[in-house]
Amino acid sequence: MRIIATDRAEPGMRLGKSIYGPDGKLLLGIGIELTDYYIQRLLDLGVFMIYIDDPLTRDVEIEPLIDEETRLKAVNAVKKALLLASGTMKDKRGILEASGLVEAVDMITDELATKKRTLISVLDLKCYNNYTYEHSVNCCVLGLIMGINSSYNEFKLRNLGLGLLLHDIGKMLIPNEILNKPGTLDPFEFKQIMAHPQNGYRLLQHDDSIPPVARIICLQHHERCDGSGYPRSLAGDSIHEFSKIAAVVDVYDALTSDRVYRRAYRPHQAVAYIKAQSGHRFDNYTVQGFLKHIAPYPLGTTVRLTTGDEAVVVALNEKAPDRPTVRLFRDKFGTDIDPVQEIDLSKEENVHILEVVS
Ligand SMILES: [Fe+2]
Repeated sequence: MRIIATDRAEPGMRLGKSIYGPDGKLLLGIGIELTDYYIQRLLDLGVFMIYIDDPLTRDVEIEPLIDEETRLKAVNAVKKALLLASGTMKDKRGILEASGLVEAVDMITDELATKKRTLISVLDLKCYNNYTYEHSVNCCVLGLIMGINSSYNEFKLRNLGLGLLLHDIGKMLIPNEILNKPGTLDPFEFKQIMAHPQNGYRLLQHDDSIPPVARIICLQHHERCDGSGYPRSLAGDSIHEFSKIAAVVDVYDALTSDRVYRRAYRPHQAVAYIKAQSGHRFDNYTVQGFLKHIAPYPLGTTVRLTTGDEAVVVALNEKAPDRPTVRLFRDKFGTDIDPVQEIDLSKEENVHILEVVS
């Protein structure tokens, strides 16, 4: 299987994975042949990366991080919790009990713990378009991967997961026109955006079912280690460990998502951004922990090497995430390499990935 940007898809290509809408409804099934109409519909729906089945990479399997059913349950639980907290839905029970968020966190944790993958191709989280809810679930998954690999106990994992699912709850008070505004925000709009951590904290503070640390994550996820964040310009260890995790996964997921005002970064670009801020805006220890689990070049990515050859990533290398094994299929003159060759970049010091071309 191969990953390509939907706007580079061509009629006649076959889908390597089914595509589901935000409501879990099947949009296009695996194996279907793409047409111009389908490609345009996918782009209109915000599905900007797709998996293609082709003979070159048929043996490359890309497992989803969490099952579609689990993801959908979590998205629905977040939606319900956010609507309850913002007062647009009523339930006398606490938000957690009424929404199913705890069950969602536990299901995600169980799945991630059983799959035990240390290096992940995060792109498999990315084929959806319902931003706020999907973003919360993505952050939760990324944060839990870090928590599991740091051997957090069940209690810590649950609190971290809940905080990540709820971290942007304060955005429920911001009109969509502001959240999705393509142009520059005016000072009043900017003030509303900047207030979402405190608003989130306030929305949750009278609910005894919410663990205090989940409220802290809401309040602090935009704080930065060098004191440049908001709302309180906290620095260093005055920021909670979980909030430092939230800061990194929030930025990573936001960067790798398509937004109205910019195209999504590819994973290697987002990794580079986070690395550059490590030790400044982001806590260095947290960033190192995060990058251990993120593949900058996910399985199925087509790349150009410094030799000029084109190749597809066919195996990840846990010890050197940016040096995967690649399968060469076209040389620098544009001639097909037949039979294809594979090289393990962790053993080829003089060959590097120059760019992503799919
Ligand atoms: Fe936020």
